[in-house]
Amino acid sequence: MSSVGNLVFHLRPGGRLIGKLRVPGDKSISHRSIMLGSLAEGTTRISGFLEGDDSLATLKAFQQMGVEIEGPDQGEVVIQGVGMSGLKQPEAVLDLGNSGTSMRLLSGLLAGQGLNITLAGDVSLSSRPMSRVTDPLSKMGAEITMGENGTAPLAISDAGSLKGIDYQMPIASAQVKSCLLLAGLYADGETCVVEPAPTRDHTERILAGFGYPVRRTGSKICITGGGRLTACDIDVPADISSSAFFLVGAAVADGSDLTLEHVGINSTRDGVINILRLMGANIEVMNRRDVGGEPVADLQVRSATLKGIRIPEDQVHLAIDEFPAIFIAAACAEGETVLTGAEELRVKESDRIQVMADGLSAIGVDATATQDGIIIQGGIIKGGRVDSHGDHRIAMAFSMAALKSENEIVIDDCANVNTSFPGFVALAAGAGLMINENREGER
Ligand code: S3P
Repeated sequence: MSSVGNLVFHLRPGGRLIGKLRVPGDKSISHRSIMLGSLAEGTTRISGFLEGDDSLATLKAFQQMGVEIEGPDQGEVVIQGVGMSGLKQPEAVLDLGNSGTSMRLLSGLLAGQGLNITLAGDVSLSSRPMSRVTDPLSKMGAEITMGENGTAPLAISDAGSLKGIDYQMPIASAQVKSCLLLAGLYADGETCVVEPAPTRDHTERILAGFGYPVRRTGSKICITGGGRLTACDIDVPADISSSAFFLVGAAVADGSDLTLEHVGINSTRDGVINILRLMGANIEVMNRRDVGGEPVADLQVRSATLKGIRIPEDQVHLAIDEFPAIFIAAACAEGETVLTGAEELRVKESDRIQVMADGLSAIGVDATATQDGIIIQGGIIKGGRVDSHGDHRIAMAFSMAALKSENEIVIDDCANVNTSFPGFVALAAGAGLMINENREGER
């Protein structure tokens, strides 16, 4: 719970979502644009940057390491790149708040810089597994210590030069892949990562955009150290993960017709569209275009009758952040939805399997957590009070459940919605969600 007290969302039941809106910028791309813009030679201009707490934590970390960054101002950021070896020793710990992406990517990016740096985070981030990055980084010669449980804070010390490795990732994780590719920029020779299933490829795409060659052969991605990054302009698309709440809300609420503009629809991220369509959702992908190396489109969604499904396991990593929203779609669907192969959900900002199962039960939905997924019996949502456990995506997912609820839904611990979606309440209310927020004092 944040020190500013309990931010509570109150939702009146019913309503529909109508109109056109653009959700804030993609979180993954926003982080990466700051990281590479800082290490590039020249001036990088970003538009559509996500002004959320997570990407701002990355921005501040680079300012602490001496990079001149102007903004964000209405999503515009200007970075004076310092080049590959221009980062300065920060005077204090880098506080990365709630942001797993900042910590895991920075651990790789900073491991070969010749600096001594501590990365810390909030209670949630300090309980998330970090050995998935420190183990392979140690194999590259990095010197990183962490807490006894394999958790943050991470203390990185000057290890001299790193050496490239050939690493078969035991879990499908874009954060681990990206961490190693960024460390590989500073390693002798070639660093290769093999992924057991496709994960988001924004790091590979943005490296290419900054003129740095990355080679992919099947599931193997390789980079050679010692090159340079050249500054460029980046237009960050709207985040499909933030769009997901609205895709679900408009799919389930009778009479809805909503268009989400300029959404990133990279095929390593589009599982939510595929899964909702399998459930019967009416989603049209319009005006497909390429924006700075990322596919973008407008998504029109109209209400439909959804049915429960067995979610294909090959979609799990392509929708890894969208399951809280997808579980709400399942709760509104006719019949049973079964998810398997998604144990990674247990180590996100919260244990998203357990926290969602508990929250669904609290609003009258029959949901059973399994070790690697969940079983949800769709049907009636009665309403009630849900604890989001400070997880932004859980707070926003349950907000959409109100569209089909018989009674009010109240959601506790919602301040972290700001990590990925500043302005969520106003944007959702403008589209027709009957939401307001208040603070209920210190807890
Ligand atoms: C992210 C990768 C995903 C995702 C996270 C952002 C990224 O994590 O859950 O929100 O930007 O690389 P994993 O790659 O660990 O699954």
